[in-house]
Amino acid sequence: MTQKTITLTDNTSGKSTDFDVLEGTHGPGCIAIKNLYKDTGYFTYDPGYGMTGSCKSSITFINGEEGILLHRGYPIDQLAEKSSYLEMCYLLLNGELPTDTEASDFNSTIKTHTMVHENIRDFINGFRYDAHPMAMLVGTVGALSSFYHDSLDINNPEHREISAHRLIAKLPTIASYCYKHHRGLPFMYPDNDLDYVQNFLHMMFAVPAQDYVQSPVAAKALEVMLILHADHEQNASTSTVRLAGSSGANPFASIAAGIASLWGPAHGGANEAVINMLENIEQSGETIATTIARAKDKDDPFRLMGFGHRVYKNFDPRAKIIAKLCHELLDDLDGDQPLFDLALELEQATLNDEYFQERRLYPNVDFYSGIILRALNIPMNMFTVMFAMARTVGWISHWMEMHNDPEFRIGRPRQIYTGPAKRDYPS
Ligand code: SDX
Repeated sequence: MTQKTITLTDNTSGKSTDFDVLEGTHGPGCIAIKNLYKDTGYFTYDPGYGMTGSCKSSITFINGEEGILLHRGYPIDQLAEKSSYLEMCYLLLNGELPTDTEASDFNSTIKTHTMVHENIRDFINGFRYDAHPMAMLVGTVGALSSFYHDSLDINNPEHREISAHRLIAKLPTIASYCYKHHRGLPFMYPDNDLDYVQNFLHMMFAVPAQDYVQSPVAAKALEVMLILHADHEQNASTSTVRLAGSSGANPFASIAAGIASLWGPAHGGANEAVINMLENIEQSGETIATTIARAKDKDDPFRLMGFGHRVYKNFDPRAKIIAKLCHELLDDLDGDQPLFDLALELEQATLNDEYFQERRLYPNVDFYSGIILRALNIPMNMFTVMFAMARTVGWISHWMEMHNDPEFRIGRPRQIYTGPAKRDYPS
């Protein structure tokens, strides 16, 4: 099959240059511009890299126009319905669903790493009582690299694998410790007789004075939430992990960089911002109409939180699944039905609004997730921690893929310089 190319013609010099078009399994091809500067003397300009392919990846595929999300080829709605979070972790890390034996071995391996060094407890207790859990999480995950000197050689595949297992196993423990510290409650050790999600709920809500009565409905809802948030291609935090890791930084430092990026309200912090927005409408008397008007006002920095997406120009398939989960669970979980009803009303109002329809702004994964998390009694300042806990497997899977990529090199974007022309220092 002949190689597809694109010809670039410089209309000042008249010189034409052909560039190869690289095609993947699904999705648009990418113009390979590795020799662009050598052949044309120009760079490209793409603020936010919205039109730039940074790597080849076989982990996740998104079709933003059609609202399609595949993980290793499997549609997200099928995974949410049929898989478990640890099976999803195996799939993202290894590329295939596990056999029963592989799944059993993987689950056992993860269980051997659920505890953290006792000094981590002291480390977390060093934070102010009112420290935001995301501040504690980003610091604590970075600090993990001070405990595992035996496995920080990023060129050693075994070191990379045990670090991935440690991160997947320890994030729930650390997340629950951040919550307990914030509440001034004693930390609960992991209970390896419980499955991954039940163990997290145990560490979050059990206290020494009484056991936590597991709710199968809550555990199932959280399992689905973790699956939906596990990975999402080259989003801001995953690209941060890849860029940090491209310098050779250890996996704990690279994941800490991803946690920092996810914290922003335009990214993973949106789930907390959505609830604040809905509560503001509920409590301030601001109507849905005035909220939407503010979101449309270019002089107002306010954006409708939970709406819009860099890639999805259709419904985020995850938002559809979470909305369905809300319908199913709010009664069982004694959830905030009025807040959910308000969210549905806000969504309906945007569907009938030209501004949102013209710009193809639909609810994203964060629009409904806060309602489920609140129904699980998870406080708002822990929402992005939950997102980070789920996305850790996606981040480390991309970090591992990058280190196995023959084209791997340190990330180093260029720029258009707009500063002063060369000048001499005053004599
Ligand atoms: C996540 O990348 C990922 O995959 C992320 C994520 C993942 O799983 O990792 O999916 C998770 O981060 C979801 C997004 C959560 N963030 C929010 O809900 C915050 C609110 N959303 C916006 O901040 C915004 O939509 C972004 C940041 C998500 C996308 O920003 P873009 O790419 O700049 O949006 P755009 O180019 O599509 O905007 C086009 C127009 C602009 O107006 P005009 O200049 O054309 O007049 O739409 C406007 C924007 O101002 N717009 C909004 C809006 N989002 C875009 N206007 C009001 N409210 C909004 N939410």
